[in-house]
Amino acid sequence: MAVRGTWNDTRSRGRVAIGVARLIGDSEAMVALRDEVGRAAAAPFPVLIEGESGTGKELVARALHEEGPRRDETFAAVNCATFSDDLIETELFGHAKGAFTGAVQSRRGLLEASSGGTVFLDEVGELSPRAQAKLLRTLQDGEIRKVGENVTRRLDLRVVAATNRSLAAEAAKGRFRHDLLYRLDVVHLQVPPLRDRGADIARLATYYWDRTLVQTRGRARLAPETMNALAAHEWPGNVRELQNVLAALAVAAPAHGEVGPQLLPAAIRRAAEERRPTLAEARRAFDRTFVYDALTRSGGRRSPAARELGLSRQGLAKLVTRLGIASQKPPRVR
Ligand SMILES: Nc1ncnc2c1ncn2[C@@H]1O[C@H](COP(=O)(O)OP(=O)(O)O)[C@@H](O)[C@H]1O
Ligand SMILES: [Mg+2]
Repeated sequence: MAVRGTWNDTRSRGRVAIGVARLIGDSEAMVALRDEVGRAAAAPFPVLIEGESGTGKELVARALHEEGPRRDETFAAVNCATFSDDLIETELFGHAKGAFTGAVQSRRGLLEASSGGTVFLDEVGELSPRAQAKLLRTLQDGEIRKVGENVTRRLDLRVVAATNRSLAAEAAKGRFRHDLLYRLDVVHLQVPPLRDRGADIARLATYYWDRTLVQTRGRARLAPETMNALAAHEWPGNVRELQNVLAALAVAAPAHGEVGPQLLPAAIRRAAEERRPTLAEARRAFDRTFVYDALTRSGGRRSPAARELGLSRQGLAKLVTRLGIASQKPPRVR
C-alpha cells in the first residue's frame, strides 16, 4: 500500500507536512517505517512505538493519527513521566467533585476528552502500578470511571503508546504488567536511532538548518566539511540533539557565507577529524583547493582560470557551484 502523506497550506506557517510526510529521511529504515506507519494507521489496533529518546516517536504517533480514519478528531498526548501517581490518575481518568481534598469541581480526564480520537501515552513505561491497573481495566472494558465516581462511560479510543526502553524487558523485570503490555503492543513500531540511518542526517540537517535560519533571519550555508562532521557524529540524543546543535550553530554563525566545522562543539569536530575521509571526499577537497587556487591567481576572473585549468567557462562555472566554492574562504584539505 502506498501511503503518501499530504501537505497543509496554512497562512502563517507556509506548507506544513501532515502524516507520514512529517517523517524526513530516505534511508531504507525510514522508508520502511513510513510504510509501516501507513499500514498501521488504517487498522484500529493499539500501537506501541519503541525507540531511543529523540528518534521521532511522537512524530510517528501524530503521523499514525493523521493517516488514519480519525484524522479529524482529537489527538491527545500525555507524557506519563511528568505526572505524579495521583495526578496521572486524575489527568487520564478525571475526577468527581469532592473525590479528594481540592477537587472542588468534577473534571473530565484526557481519555474521556479524546474519545473518538487518538490518545498518545508517551513514556508509558513510567506509569505507576496503580495507574497501570486502572488503564488495563479501562482498555479491557472500553469504559471509563472517574476517580471518586461509580458511573462508567463508554470510550472509543485509538491508543498509541511509546517508550524509550524495551517494555518487554520491563515486564520481565516485573516493572510493567504483562497483561497491559499485551493490550498495548498489538502493532509494534521500532524507530531506529539516528546513527543507524546515517543516510538521513544530511537531509534532516538541511531541513532543520533552513528552519533555524528562518528563526534567526540568517543566510549562512553549512560548509561541506561541516556537513561531513555532522554525518560522522553518533548522535546519542538523536534528531533532537541534531536540532539543538544546529540552533547553537546558527547563533554562533556569521550572517552570511559558509559555516565551517570550527564552530561545531568540540566533540563533534574531533570525531570528524579522527575519521579518515573517503576517497570521494578527499577528491572533492583536492578539487576545491585546486580550483580555488587557480581562481585566486586570476584574481577571481573566470576566463583565465578556466584556461589554466583546461576547462570551458561554463565547465568552470558548474564546477564552482558543485564544489560549493565560496568567493572568499579557502577550502581546507584533510
Ligand atoms: N524523521 C524525522 N523527520 C523530521 N523531524 C524529526 C524526525 N524524527 C524526529 N524529528 C524531530 O525531532 C524532535 C524529537 O522527536 P520526538 O518525536 O519528540 O522524539 P521522541 O518522542 O522519540 O523523543 C522533534 O522536534 C521531531 O519533530
Ligand atoms: Mg518524546
